Amino acid sequence: MLDPTFPIELVRSSYPALADGFAYLDGAAGTQTPQPVIDAVSAAYRAGIGNVGGAFPASDRSGAIVAACRAAVADLVGGHPDGVVLGPNMTTLTYRLARAIAGPGDEVVVSRLDHDANVRPWTQTGATVRWAEVDPVTGELPVAQYADLIGERTRLVAVTAASNILGTRPDVAAIAELAHRAGALMYVDGVHATPHGPVDMRALGADFYATSAYKWSGPHIGAVVADPALLETLRPDKLASSPDTVPERFETGTAAFADLAGVTAAVDHLAALVPGTGTRRERLLASMSAAEEHELALFAVLIEGLETMPHVTVYGKPARRTATAYFTVAGHTPRQVAEHLAGLGVNVWNGHNYAWELTGALGIRDSGGAVRAGLVHYNDRSDVDRLLDGVARLS
Ligand SMILES: Cc1ncc(COP(=O)(O)O)c(C=O)c1O
Repeated sequence: MLDPTFPIELVRSSYPALADGFAYLDGAAGTQTPQPVIDAVSAAYRAGIGNVGGAFPASDRSGAIVAACRAAVADLVGGHPDGVVLGPNMTTLTYRLARAIAGPGDEVVVSRLDHDANVRPWTQTGATVRWAEVDPVTGELPVAQYADLIGERTRLVAVTAASNILGTRPDVAAIAELAHRAGALMYVDGVHATPHGPVDMRALGADFYATSAYKWSGPHIGAVVADPALLETLRPDKLASSPDTVPERFETGTAAFADLAGVTAAVDHLAALVPGTGTRRERLLASMSAAEEHELALFAVLIEGLETMPHVTVYGKPARRTATAYFTVAGHTPRQVAEHLAGLGVNVWNGHNYAWELTGALGIRDSGGAVRAGLVHYNDRSDVDRLLDGVARLS
């Protein structure tokens, strides 16, 4: 049942790009940007911003933008503002943290469900690598295997909160319990999960929670959130002249201050998808729950439509998932399907989408991967219908 209370028309009207008539089913690769975010970025530039730490008002404005951004991201994921490390994207931040956390003599556990950005930064630390396997039929990441993978030398377990191609939401909290029992740290990739529902990084057992604002209506900025006390124990590579405080010592170079203003506006936008009261954190939880319901109701139509087409193969059938479908069409390469759909005004992705290990495990990495169609809160029934109509025409 589609949720008639989700104000989809109002939500869509705040995204100027949606007026171009395309069905944007490419949100898993990056969402469109609502007007308040565009306004916040340009307002920052209009007001005048300087580098932080200076003796003049424009510098103070940048300092205030950074502080507001840390508070906003902390509200979004249920973390502490002083533990919000900001940077250009999740991949860059994860490489930086991985070098500070693990090295030769340690063991790390990575999974074949993960985007490569939560795999290679760990496997390249010089630590011994243990692999968690995926069931290629269901797309699930069985928890039981972690009891054998985690041991007393395990420094860290890296796992995704949701697969960026199959949408699988593994039982991160159960994996975290095993990791913590062995004294290991949990690094959770929340890049795909964050836009699809409420996030509570403490409930997940995440010592580190990574997210990217451009997946949830914000600018191209990444963040990793951790307990500030944990960050105090780590010594990342940094310049001698840059601050040694936490979280600043994890942030190299000058920040994209105007974009950080846009990140805060994106969090405020998400908090107001549905009318609500209370703190921003409370409104975010309510709003993102409503968005999740909206997405999953539409997704039920999308996935059933694809699964009933004899010329379509859908990958994975995880019990808990985001509204993300990954499929191939008989007789057409994924690229041809994407081009055909683009010609009909439907944006989808084709390829491995950096789910390198997973597409390898599915046996489709070398044949061009598959087609990914994903829903976010601004998608509506017509987007789904246009996708299904376009795919049906390829039979
Ligand atoms: C699940 C997941 N993890 C990590 C990343 C990498 O994020 P970023 O582009 O911020 O480096 C992506 C990007 O698509 C992703 O989907």
